[in-house]
Amino acid sequence: MKKALIIGASSGIGRELALTLSKHGYEIGLMARRVELLKDLQREISTKTHIGHLDISHASEAIEKVQDMVSQMKVIDLMIINAGTGFLNPKLDWLDEQKTLDVNVYGFCALAGFAFKYFSKQACGHLVGISSIGALRGNHIAPAYNASKAFMSNYLEGLRKKAFKDGIPIMVTDIKPGFVDTEMAKGEGKFWVASPRKAAE
Ligand SMILES: NC(=O)c1ccc[n+]([C@@H]2O[C@H](COP(=O)([O-])OP(=O)(O)OC[C@H]3O[C@@H](n4cnc5c(N)ncnc54)[C@H](OP(=O)(O)O)[C@@H]3O)[C@@H](O)[C@H]2O)c1
Repeated sequence: MKKALIIGASSGIGRELALTLSKHGYEIGLMARRVELLKDLQREISTKTHIGHLDISHASEAIEKVQDMVSQMKVIDLMIINAGTGFLNPKLDWLDEQKTLDVNVYGFCALAGFAFKYFSKQACGHLVGISSIGALRGNHIAPAYNASKAFMSNYLEGLRKKAFKDGIPIMVTDIKPGFVDTEMAKGEGKFWVASPRKAAE
């Protein structure tokens, strides 16, 4: 049985990823802040699951919590860093910009580094980051969000090149969704909006 750990599994795309992976027989670790939602999800999944509270905006603590989850699962084959946040912030309120960077840059970077080192030691495994098509361009209404996603995609590319150059047989995948019908999809003028299930599949 394959084992996957999903960071940010409580709603939206992460929740649907858990349901999809369970249909493929995966044992799954589910982590996020809203543990009650993870418990509800756990009841819907027939394969073995593990749940854990995690706030990736506290990056150093998050590494320890993820390490504990991996120890509990014994081994993982796939880690998906799906957790993300973002705000429409035309007035550039610093606290909102900071919250975005804490999750999408510092939290992501801490856990991507953890996963890379873990899979390297294991000499197999697959790290997936859920970035955004927004990584490609700046955004006048949510500048920190798009810039943070550019960081994610660029960092993942760096890790993929590192694996290749160092001859480490692991995979690093950057997913850049367009609009998906979740709480995260904010603002006017959305187009080609996919369902969370379609995005997960
Ligand atoms: N929806 C879109 O149109 C769209 C498009 C492109 C990319 N994306 C990306 O897709 C990913 C999933 O978003 P979604 O659309 O499915 O929205 P969502 O339903 O709001 O899901 C966000 C997930 O991230 C978790 N999360 C947020 N902050 C966290 C933190 N500090 N610590 C741990 N987990 C945290 C949430 O869990 P808790 O709140 O329980 O902690 C939740 O599980 C995000 O990275 C987003 O940027 C979305």
